[in-house]
Amino acid sequence: MGSLLLLSLLLLLVTMYPGDGGVLDRRAEHVQNTSSSPPAPSGTSAPFWVRISPELVAVPPGGSVWLNCSNSCPLPESSRLRTQLRRGKTLSGPGWVSYQLLDVKAWSSNVRCSVTCAGKTREATARVTAYKRPGSVILEPPILVGHKYILRCHVTHVFPVGFLVVSLRRSGRIIYFESLERFRDLYLANVTLTHVVRAGPRDLWQPVTCHARLNLDGLVVRSSSAPVLLTAFVWNPASKALASISIAALLGILLAMGAAYLRKYLAMQSQA
Ligand SMILES: *[C@@H]1O[C@H](CO)[C@@H](O)[C@H](O)[C@H]1NC(C)=O
Ligand SMILES: *[C@@H]1O[C@H](CO)[C@@H](O)[C@H](O)[C@H]1NC(C)=O
Ligand SMILES: *[C@@H]1O[C@H](CO)[C@@H](O)[C@H](O)[C@H]1NC(C)=O
Repeated sequence: MGSLLLLSLLLLLVTMYPGDGGVLDRRAEHVQNTSSSPPAPSGTSAPFWVRISPELVAVPPGGSVWLNCSNSCPLPESSRLRTQLRRGKTLSGPGWVSYQLLDVKAWSSNVRCSVTCAGKTREATARVTAYKRPGSVILEPPILVGHKYILRCHVTHVFPVGFLVVSLRRSGRIIYFESLERFRDLYLANVTLTHVVRAGPRDLWQPVTCHARLNLDGLVVRSSSAPVLLTAFVWNPASKALASISIAALLGILLAMGAAYLRKYLAMQSQA
């Protein structure tokens, strides 16, 4: 019923406007085709887009990358790439140019692709980031010297050092951290953090971990060491004299614990 009614309405429309149907069709075609129509000879600029892909890419320091700049202009007057990075090969096809960029050393670089179409220029921007996650984060067994522990953490093969924060945690809580923002070297680096903590009896057998965090403007890369325990039995051979003092101190702690246990035991015996 409904489709029959629709059909008869359409027939009615066609018979009512036999000549104007063509005009309507042409107008619709014109509206749909504006975005891809060739530039008008009068100089009015046609809308077009420029894209760069990928827009954000991370490479290892010294690595290379391909960026593809595409556009919807039927007849581009020019297509350029602006960057501080070294260029390699270029490939192109209809509506796109792909650029190879070599030896990316800066931690962050902007790359701009601009295309001129019918007198109008548009551009698209990509960001190339170079970073290297630490090869390893190693916390040495703590060295007990007197009543202090020497903690030494090695972060190897990391880049960029200027965005690195190294922290030490005891039982998950931060006890020390250092930001290396003063180091602006453009090379892979090894970082060793040495920190001395006072050791109380309660610190014994507490796990300590070392954490490296690279904060690259939104991109956060974390690595951490295996936990080490604060024990009294590891010492530096170079400081044996100091180590024997600390063993004496440890014995004192053990004896105090033993005495407390003995008193409790005796108290239980007398009650019985
Ligand atoms: C756009 O115009 C062309 C002819 O210039 C036509 O072949 C095509 O079908 C049109 N596209 C649309 C979406 O109307
Ligand atoms: C570049 O992008 C265009 C459009 O997306 C695509 O057709 C072309 O294959 C790409 N070229 C390369 C080398 O990836
Ligand atoms: C960094 O440490 C690694 C592993 O311990 C070593 O092979 C490399 O030579 C060191 N690099 C520098 C620059 O010290």
